[in-house]
Amino acid sequence: MRADDDRTVYLEDYRPTDFVLETVELIFELGENLTTVGSEMRFYRRGGADQSAPLVLDGDSLALSGLALDGKPLLPERYEQKHDKLIIHDLPTDEPFTLTVKTRIKPAENTQLLGLYRTNGIYSTQCEAEGFRRISYFYDRPDVLAVYTVTIIADKATSPLLLSNGNLVEQKELEDGRHMAKWHDPFPKPAYLFALVAGDLGMIEDKFTTMSRRDVTLRLFVEHGKEGRAGYAMNSLKRAMKWDEERFGREYDLDIFMIVAVSDFNMGAMENKGLNIFNDRLILADPETATDDDYGRIEAVVAHEYFHNWTGNRITCRDWFQLSLKEGLTVYREHEFSADQRSRSVIRVEEVKFLRAHQFPEDSGPLAHPVRPTQYLEIDNFYTTTVYEKGSEVSRMIATILGQDNFRKGLDLYFERHDGGAVTIEDYLKCFEDATGRDLSHFALWYHQAGTPEITASSEYDEKVGRLSLTLSQSTPSTPGQKEKKPLHIPLRTGFIGPNGDDMEPSSVSGGERRDDVLHLTKEHQTFVFEGLGARPAVSLNRDFSAPVKIEYDLPKEDLVRIAQHESDLVARWDAVNTLALNTLAAATRACQSGETIPVDPALTDTLTGFAEDDALEPAFKALALTLPSELDIGRRIGQDIDPDAIHLARNTVRDAVAKAGHKAFSALSVSPAEDAPFSADAESAGKRALRNIALSYLAAANGDATPAKEAYDRATNMTDRIAALRILAHQFTGAAETKAALEDYRERFAREPLVLDKWFTTQATIAGPDALERVQNLMSDTAFDIGNPNRVRALVGAFASSNPSGFNRPDGAAYSFFANFILTSDKRNPTLTARLMTAMRSFSALEKTRREKALIELERIASHDDLSRNLRDIIDRMLK
Ligand code: PHE
Ligand code: ZN
Repeated sequence: MRADDDRTVYLEDYRPTDFVLETVELIFELGENLTTVGSEMRFYRRGGADQSAPLVLDGDSLALSGLALDGKPLLPERYEQKHDKLIIHDLPTDEPFTLTVKTRIKPAENTQLLGLYRTNGIYSTQCEAEGFRRISYFYDRPDVLAVYTVTIIADKATSPLLLSNGNLVEQKELEDGRHMAKWHDPFPKPAYLFALVAGDLGMIEDKFTTMSRRDVTLRLFVEHGKEGRAGYAMNSLKRAMKWDEERFGREYDLDIFMIVAVSDFNMGAMENKGLNIFNDRLILADPETATDDDYGRIEAVVAHEYFHNWTGNRITCRDWFQLSLKEGLTVYREHEFSADQRSRSVIRVEEVKFLRAHQFPEDSGPLAHPVRPTQYLEIDNFYTTTVYEKGSEVSRMIATILGQDNFRKGLDLYFERHDGGAVTIEDYLKCFEDATGRDLSHFALWYHQAGTPEITASSEYDEKVGRLSLTLSQSTPSTPGQKEKKPLHIPLRTGFIGPNGDDMEPSSVSGGERRDDVLHLTKEHQTFVFEGLGARPAVSLNRDFSAPVKIEYDLPKEDLVRIAQHESDLVARWDAVNTLALNTLAAATRACQSGETIPVDPALTDTLTGFAEDDALEPAFKALALTLPSELDIGRRIGQDIDPDAIHLARNTVRDAVAKAGHKAFSALSVSPAEDAPFSADAESAGKRALRNIALSYLAAANGDATPAKEAYDRATNMTDRIAALRILAHQFTGAAETKAALEDYRERFAREPLVLDKWFTTQATIAGPDALERVQNLMSDTAFDIGNPNRVRALVGAFASSNPSGFNRPDGAAYSFFANFILTSDKRNPTLTARLMTAMRSFSALEKTRREKALIELERIASHDDLSRNLRDIIDRMLK
């Protein structure tokens, strides 16, 4: 039974609209306190639709100031406004008609940053997912594609720049110091891809010549004075455009492509047609202010939004349940781009780390949902790592199952068949089936079944005949709304590493399909039998992390070490070291809790020292291998009754032991390069910096002396080195005079750079231990902190709640209650941001009892308020179910 006031949306309720919208002409008269929006929409009744059906348009917080049909004002009895909808009756049955709607909105009061808002003198829009209805009454759904013409009128002095989607078709001066610009976008699009920007911004310009020799103008707009920091984003854009032509045959389709960087933005960036809008942290970079990670993120996100032009815009989603159709696929394309631009294995390891740190916990907690959900209360809350990153993994698995060439064939067919359409995940899958003849019906379950599959493996080797039997069993835990799970089709890349470290190739395989090194696990229990293996191999399962699963495999330690040292697949090597480290760290935590001395496995310290000394490995990979799992990783590994203080102590103890054992190697690695080497952001240079900085942190641990880190801070000529040194000081020498001095220097040095100060906030918000809360509270009164800016909030409060396990989970619960108060305040301003922040506590039930109970009290206190936003209500109710 569905209650009347239940606003839940169900996939099964999907129906096309009764009317077809062909064109829309919008006229904006911009004023920060009052903006008027005129909308002229050309409709006709859909063939076969109910001939008496009214036209029902979406709205949200709108003031209606005019309504006309074919130029004549509509009488009040012809329409009604109900539950934010505008309902119009008695519309023509055969003839097309024009509906004119006028609304008034207040951009300066829009603190939700959804719809049209004005901050720092800039008007900008955010319409995905349902923001357009805060601008005008509209069919605000992705399957309604119309051609837009947009006129913007504004004061010329304060808004010299007037931008929207498509091509500029007219521009002129008006009286009273105003001016106008008119834009036309020839490509039909859904409302969520509409964008408008007005204000006074600086610009850099470039051009790109496409594969069919068309010139495209590229413009990137940033705050005046920041033009010098936009070059890397522009360069990334050009590389992305080229790559999409070469790798996927996709060419850009308008004469101009624009990106605007804004400082107040809820998410990372938005792919509006021809006019991407970015959070400025994902555009601005120069060596003094951006880290190598920032450069990598900028490159990836600029490419991601650009790639949406085909996967998202030219072909869009039929409804929001299909969100992963565009997001999962575009993340996959983004990952492939990064892999081609940088080091494939390093990029893959970073993806695996991210997936395990964010998606796996989501998938095993109260907010778990399938890649393609079947219901939602608030779509904003479904921009999740499951829809994005697990969605990407699903496309990656399709490529693994079919092979890259066949994947490309399927995608070519998808572009050909569905260009201009609003389609479903079934449509997407069908293209791969039709292009290759492979049946993907079993595989499709990955889209519908939530939860991370768990595989248990065991193997037996028969020395006499050289036969290895590998038994794999799979199961997927229950998730909210899905109790029973079926076995999935899981492609597992598998290697056999011989005693001398070389790959072994079996002469035959039975028990299931094996192509190249991919085992196709399709049943609940399956035994693969490999013949012709002359010695017992170490079995390397899930090479390259070919499937997003958890594997329980009781591998002898010497096998794990063999894989760590010799696997030809670097991702598997990294994973083996990581497993060795997690085993040691989990044992150390247990010892800590029972007051025993903390053991540190020499197999771990030896392996890590071996990595540190191995000059054949690329530095970026070495840096990843030498980085111990985080406290959060260890907590997830332990899984229940988590005691963050014990984990903190255990990790520091293991870190110190590694530092001592590898002292000599770390000393050698920490040496700085020649003074005058010019900065380069390329992946290789970044890898060297990463390696040097991890070595520095081990040395600091081994020597217990803050001086070298302080010297590194003072000597730093780029942000990567500076922030790395600052982190060592703040996290390993918290109260030291050197730390104080460096923190003050940083605050002073970047006093006028809020984005750069975010790193300073985060560094301090993540200092472990019980003093963290007070530190965070003090930082909230720093003049640079601004509760209205999502980046500031995430850098300080978000980092504290999600990345400081011992500090946030103080046993007395004081941080929970601080956080709950913050959530309640923030929800009044910005529900999207607040609901996302709230998810930091989604795994509270895995904590040990005292903390779990204290957390629950605060969560219930939040839930007890009856005026929560729908975003927050949705998250908190699911967390408490
Ligand atoms: N569609 C954007 C992206 O991934 C994300 C986004 C969603 C931005 C909703 C704003 C609002 O590329
Ligand atoms: Zn996206």
